[in-house]
Amino acid sequence: MAANSLLLLLLSLLISSFTTATSQTEQQILLQIKKDFNNPPSLSSWNTTSTSHCEWTGIQCTNGSVTGISLSDQNITYPIPHTICNLSNLAYLDLSWNYLPGSFPTSLYNCNNLQYLDISQNLFVGSIPSTINRLSNKLYHLSLSSNNFTGDIPSSIGQLSALQYLLLDNNLFNGTYPAELGNLLNLEHLWLASNPFLPSQIPAEFGSMSSLSFLWMASTNLHGSIPDTFGKLQNLVQLDLSMNSLSGRIPEGIWMLKKLERIYLYHNQLSGAISDTKVGAQGLTQVDLSMNNLTGSIPAGFGKLQNLTLLSLYYNQLSGEIPAEIGLLPSLTNLKLFSNKLTGVLPPELGKHSNLWNLEVDDNSLSGELPQFLCSRGNFTSLVVFNNNFTGKLPSSLATCNTLNNLMVQNNNFYGQMPAGLWSTAVNLTTVIMHHNSFSGTLPEELPSNLTRLEIQVNRFSVIVSPATYQPTSGLYGCLTRLIYQTTS
Ligand SMILES: *[C@@H]1O[C@H](CO)[C@@H](O)[C@H](O)[C@H]1NC(C)=O
Ligand SMILES: *[C@@H]1O[C@H](CO)[C@@H](O)[C@H](O)[C@H]1NC(C)=O
Ligand SMILES: *[C@@H]1O[C@H](CO)[C@@H](O)[C@H](O)[C@H]1NC(C)=O
Ligand SMILES: *[C@@H]1O[C@H](CO)[C@@H](O)[C@H](O)[C@H]1NC(C)=O
Ligand SMILES: *[C@@H]1O[C@H](CO)[C@@H](O)[C@H](O)[C@H]1NC(C)=O
Ligand SMILES: *[C@@H]1O[C@H](CO)[C@@H](O)[C@H](O)[C@H]1NC(C)=O
Ligand SMILES: *[C@@H]1O[C@H](CO)[C@@H](O)[C@H](O)[C@H]1NC(C)=O
Ligand SMILES: *[C@@H]1O[C@H](CO)[C@@H](O)[C@H](O)[C@H]1NC(C)=O
Ligand SMILES: *[C@@H]1O[C@H](CO)[C@@H](O)[C@H](O)[C@H]1NC(C)=O
Ligand SMILES: *[C@@H]1O[C@H](CO)[C@@H](O)[C@H](O)[C@H]1NC(C)=O
Ligand SMILES: *[C@@H]1O[C@H](CO)[C@@H](O)[C@H](O)[C@H]1NC(C)=O
Ligand SMILES: *[C@@H]1O[C@H](CO)[C@@H](O)[C@H](O)[C@H]1NC(C)=O
Repeated sequence: MAANSLLLLLLSLLISSFTTATSQTEQQILLQIKKDFNNPPSLSSWNTTSTSHCEWTGIQCTNGSVTGISLSDQNITYPIPHTICNLSNLAYLDLSWNYLPGSFPTSLYNCNNLQYLDISQNLFVGSIPSTINRLSNKLYHLSLSSNNFTGDIPSSIGQLSALQYLLLDNNLFNGTYPAELGNLLNLEHLWLASNPFLPSQIPAEFGSMSSLSFLWMASTNLHGSIPDTFGKLQNLVQLDLSMNSLSGRIPEGIWMLKKLERIYLYHNQLSGAISDTKVGAQGLTQVDLSMNNLTGSIPAGFGKLQNLTLLSLYYNQLSGEIPAEIGLLPSLTNLKLFSNKLTGVLPPELGKHSNLWNLEVDDNSLSGELPQFLCSRGNFTSLVVFNNNFTGKLPSSLATCNTLNNLMVQNNNFYGQMPAGLWSTAVNLTTVIMHHNSFSGTLPEELPSNLTRLEIQVNRFSVIVSPATYQPTSGLYGCLTRLIYQTTS
């Protein structure tokens, strides 16, 4: 019993003297780091008069030993000191948003316990060394985003098998990236966006990253087609391949990915029809396939996506009618279908079931009357339906639409008077373009004070507007910078 207690006492003495020794050295190491950073004002708390170095700005300790350094946005302008890895338990290092200069910090190879490294938003230049796999094999987060790194992404990066986050976007990488990234089975976030890579195809191997949830490859000079293997990315939540030169069809399998919420494929050269098999990706919130060469009709399956807020399909060659179910979607706020070859009517209940604020369907061959409920949820700001074959009166619900900002209905067959009250209710109205219709009636005495653009020519307004009254300089309509008012055809 006594012997046991004695042993315990000795042991605890040993441990406490060990931790004291460690913490003294660690304090010295930190003071050396401060000196190497040229004593930035932001590190003034790093001084011996204050209690423990574990309390210093940006320092985290575990069991009295430094395990984390967080010095994001601290005006540091000197390179990462070599001594930083003398902190043998350092696991977390965040030096983002500083002015760290120079080439890739290979001195960090000595941080054997490093798990998290963020040196994004600095002034690093040069290429990533092929020895990068010498970083700790515990590294799960590596962010080099927003620097000036150039050259290739080395294939050895595919050996950092613990990686969950690999963030390399917004650099000047002008070479290639390796298919070996497909070996990173724990990788959840792969960000390569906004780099001037050599023109390349997406490696089919990327479809093997079974943990991948967030793939961001916008503006990376991609061409060729989207690999069918992407249909295997069961954990994918966000797919962004926008602003590239991808061609061919969108693989059907992508629409079956159960966890997919956001798909951005805009500004490519994708063609063919959007698959109209049952959409398995029921959680989709944003679908942006605009600025492609897609043909066929809008899949009825889109009308079943209860969480869909954005549907953007503009600048394609889509034809046929807009599925009426789209008007029943409870989350839809932004519908952009302009510059296609769509026919038929707008879904009659559009605006009734969701907080719609933007409707852009101009430059199609749509006809019939506008939906009655567009502004019924009280957040509608923009009605852009010009260059179609719409007819009837503007919906009377617009009369109470005080959120309306932008009304562009020109080149249709609308007739009748403007909804009574519109001019006085819509205080934020800035643009009204309604020329080339058959509108009748008169304009009000006073226009909304924020109105900058009013074009009403070629209609059937009964009172010819007096140019004198509406002259921008008259002061009556102080904001109006553009008025086209002739009322005869
Ligand atoms: C860091 O470690 C190196 C070699 O292990 C040693 O020479 C150096 O003095 C240490 N630096 C500090 C500040 O303790
Ligand atoms: C030392 O750090 C403490 C806060 O930890 C601060 O109040 C004090 O001003 C610092 N001393 C110097 C000389 O910077
Ligand atoms: C801290 O010490 C406790 C007790 O000695 C131990 O269980 C724990 O694993 C230690 N934590 C770390 C991060 O070393
Ligand atoms: C960084 O420097 C700028 C200008 O010198 C200063 O305004 C800012 O407060 C500094 N930020 C920190 C965190 O010290
Ligand atoms: C990084 O690249 C940008 C754009 O090419 C350039 O304006 C800037 O001077 C570069 N910065 C450094 C530190 O190389
Ligand atoms: C990449 O950029 C670097 C630095 O500007 C340049 O030296 C190199 O030739 C470029 N490589 C390619 C393949 O364009
Ligand atoms: C779309 O397809 C047509 C014909 O198939 C082609 O002429 C045109 O260049 C394509 N446009 C784009 C942006 O790829
Ligand atoms: C829709 O969103 C809600 C709330 O975020 C979520 O609970 C629900 O699972 C989503 N529906 C689908 C089909 O993913
Ligand atoms: C209302 O419309 C604005 C844009 O005009 C939008 O940003 C906001 O999210 C909308 N609010 C709701 C609840 O949909
Ligand atoms: C517009 O509709 C009218 C009949 O409502 C039809 O005669 C005309 O051809 C249509 N114009 C276009 C461009 O579709
Ligand atoms: C008018 O616009 C302002 C500024 O965008 C906004 O705060 C205000 O809510 C708008 N008014 C209405 C009635 O929508
Ligand atoms: C005009 O626009 C301004 C700024 O967007 C906004 O604050 C204001 O509420 C609008 N309406 C009126 C009547 O000035």
